[in-house]
Amino acid sequence: MCGIVGYIGDKQAIPFLLDGMSKLEYRGYDSAGVAVYNKGKICIEKCVGRLEALKQKLKGNMPEGTMGIGHTRWATHGRPSDVNSHPHADSSGEFVVVHNGIIENYLGLKQDLQAKGHTFLSETDTEVVAHLMSEYYTGDFEDTVKKVLGMIEGSYSLVFMCAKEPGKLICTKKSNPLVIGLGNGENFIASDIPAIIAKTRRTFIMSDGEIATVTKDNVWVQDINGTPISKKIFEVNWNAEAAEKGGFEHFMLKEIYEQPKAMRDTMLGRLAKTNDAVVFSELNWTPEELKGINKIFIVACGTAYHAGVVGKYYIEQMARISVEVDIASEFRYRLPIIDGNCLCIVISQSGETIDTLEALKEAKRLGARTLAVTNVVGSSIAREADQVVYTYAGPEIAVASTKAYTTQLLIMLLLSMYIAQLRNTVTVDRLQELIVGIREIPEQIHKMLENVEQIKIFATKYGSSEDAFFLGRSLDYAVALEGALKLKEISYIHAEAYAAGELKHGTLALIVEGVPVIVLATQPDVYEKTISNLQEVKARDAVVIGIGMEGDKKLAQHADHVIYIPKTDKYLAPLEAVLPLQLLAYYAALTRGCDVDKPRNLAKSVTVE
Ligand code: AGP
Repeated sequence: MCGIVGYIGDKQAIPFLLDGMSKLEYRGYDSAGVAVYNKGKICIEKCVGRLEALKQKLKGNMPEGTMGIGHTRWATHGRPSDVNSHPHADSSGEFVVVHNGIIENYLGLKQDLQAKGHTFLSETDTEVVAHLMSEYYTGDFEDTVKKVLGMIEGSYSLVFMCAKEPGKLICTKKSNPLVIGLGNGENFIASDIPAIIAKTRRTFIMSDGEIATVTKDNVWVQDINGTPISKKIFEVNWNAEAAEKGGFEHFMLKEIYEQPKAMRDTMLGRLAKTNDAVVFSELNWTPEELKGINKIFIVACGTAYHAGVVGKYYIEQMARISVEVDIASEFRYRLPIIDGNCLCIVISQSGETIDTLEALKEAKRLGARTLAVTNVVGSSIAREADQVVYTYAGPEIAVASTKAYTTQLLIMLLLSMYIAQLRNTVTVDRLQELIVGIREIPEQIHKMLENVEQIKIFATKYGSSEDAFFLGRSLDYAVALEGALKLKEISYIHAEAYAAGELKHGTLALIVEGVPVIVLATQPDVYEKTISNLQEVKARDAVVIGIGMEGDKKLAQHADHVIYIPKTDKYLAPLEAVLPLQLLAYYAALTRGCDVDKPRNLAKSVTVE
């Protein structure tokens, strides 16, 4: 998610632009830039690096003008670089745009424009929008914006400037945030409230499909058909710190609630419109190459490792290739048996975890083909791997990984389906069934997040426990691993995940009266056996919280409490079942007065061995 700011008024634009961008930088950015209109021309200054690098560049060379836009970039398409930084312009420099989001159909549009003689400087999807404005300019700025919006697909917040028609900024959004701050003789635009809260608390919160024309004295909102829209003023009553968290108390809770959007953004462009195929345009494997792969290693750390354990089940069951999942710090030293017929998939939210990076290098040294799954474009792991697939979860600030994990699960599922497609080990009907289910997941998760009272109660009731167990079989066991880590790392409760069938081989000795045991029972193939294991712990007077599919009455007969997830395909259950586990950990940590976003001893990215 990028940071966007805009200013139009009587004062110089630059001071607000830089201050607004600094208020958005808390989420971590890799490049920044500004564009300011002055006397018929738009001056653009931008560079890779943090905002400070741009400020240094502007020293003694501050663009003058009272209308401008600014951008801090979280790269999605095109590595972090000066030329890929925003704002972007068409060749004439008369049309300038900043963008947050993903233009799904940018490649086709770019090719059409190139055929018309347009030349591009960057690898970004955003630059295409500036050239579309120039190509289809009707002589009317608003009309041209509406025309261009009818051509682009994807998710976006966009702010446009046009040197031919100064004195107005135009902004619009679809699936990404955008707010307008209402001043006196000046108006402000931003992707997040923190950027404008120092200037005004009177705002218009833009809705999808709305197009606003912003002058220094007026804001006029219409839809793509030109129908006027009257906006209600939203008075922001958050303090600056709360505004950074979007009104949530912690970044972790904000990021838990961002999961529907993170998943939508991550699946964008990867599901064929006909619902019968998974698409990875960034991968250049051929069916023959994949047929040659007879072993896959998945290597990662922590939560990313847990996503890999889920991925093992997906790949083995759908693509029928043998998979080994390794903790990166172990993989490096166990002399794995690797050759050119092996594929090594490394998973890393930050793309900088040294254990995972070194494991990747070891896999390459041994001759494996390598693929990185990461959330940070241009990260060390992304650059080291032969190929890379990005999750589009946006910046993840909380140390405890949540939205990165669920988007990693989604990518592992899509990758498994993609490999199975190329190897003909899955039917089109099964693919369609899964794709239809995948499309429903963000809304199902959104609904779960609207009703968390029960989870809060359990977390408060059992938050004083010093031990907790997470049990499951098959994919439920893989998710149990993540549930235990979440609880451990932010509430400091000693939590252990166990294969439910393995408990009786020793650890059952630890199950005593009152100990909370979370039993995941979403997998039909092993459901009855899981219920038997649940009865084993109940017989030792444990308190059992069951996680099951809506409508599962049997689970409620055996567990003390049940948290239901919306009914879904067994392969999609992990994407939902982890939600209550994340929330249990969050509210237990609150109950215990822990520092949720920055738990003791931990760092967001472990760049030391
Ligand atoms: C997850 O909640 C933890 N913060 C930690 O285990 C993390 O997943 C691990 O350090 C791997 O980080 P990465 O995904 O950035 O490589």
